[in-house]
Amino acid sequence: IDFKIITNNGNHDRMKMLIDLKNIFARQLPKMPKEYIVRLVFDRNHESMCIIKDDTKVIGGICYRKYPTQRFAEIAFLAITANLQVKGYGTRLMNKFKEHIQKQDVEYLLTYADNYAIGYFRKQGFYQEIKMHPDKWKGFIKDYDGGTLMECYVHPNIDYGN
Ligand code: ACO
Repeated sequence: IDFKIITNNGNHDRMKMLIDLKNIFARQLPKMPKEYIVRLVFDRNHESMCIIKDDTKVIGGICYRKYPTQRFAEIAFLAITANLQVKGYGTRLMNKFKEHIQKQDVEYLLTYADNYAIGYFRKQGFYQEIKMHPDKWKGFIKDYDGGTLMECYVHPNIDYGN
């Protein structure tokens, strides 16, 4: 298992991985309009961390946007391919992501969790109570009806590596 940060930079192999990840999101997040998924995954402000099996096979990932001046990042989409869910990959991905984002001086993660994913996010240290001051994030991220806003504090000194 490998973790790779991928942005839309025109590199052919990486673009293929982003397309594979986009397809996993589209399948696993059926309520999200496909065009919206495509737009964010290929948007230059967004980055994705992919989980890669056997060197080339994308089995899941997380698409996010950093707001460096605000010291938070928003998780837009997160999914693991259907036949590999609930085997621990989602947890490994989140730990790797926290380890990465911690080095970028990010203090909080925010996400609009789908109702059936709230349990997963809770287990990853996310809470429905938002501790970040509203001035820091309101107006930066879009309201989204279909989800519950959740927050995770990224402790600067915790070793999230696994
Ligand atoms: N509800 C409650 N608990 C869950 C759920 C869920 N939907 N999914 C996993 N869990 C639990 C597991 O049982 C496990 O608990 P345990 O540690 O007590 O055994 C723990 O969460 C971690 O499970 P993993 O195996 O690490 O999770 P997985 O690899 O399945 O990844 C994920 C979780 C990403 C939610 C995956 O199930 C998935 O892709 N689901 C469909 C898409 C989805 O819902 N994505 C999130 C939408 S919200 C958003 O994108 C911002």
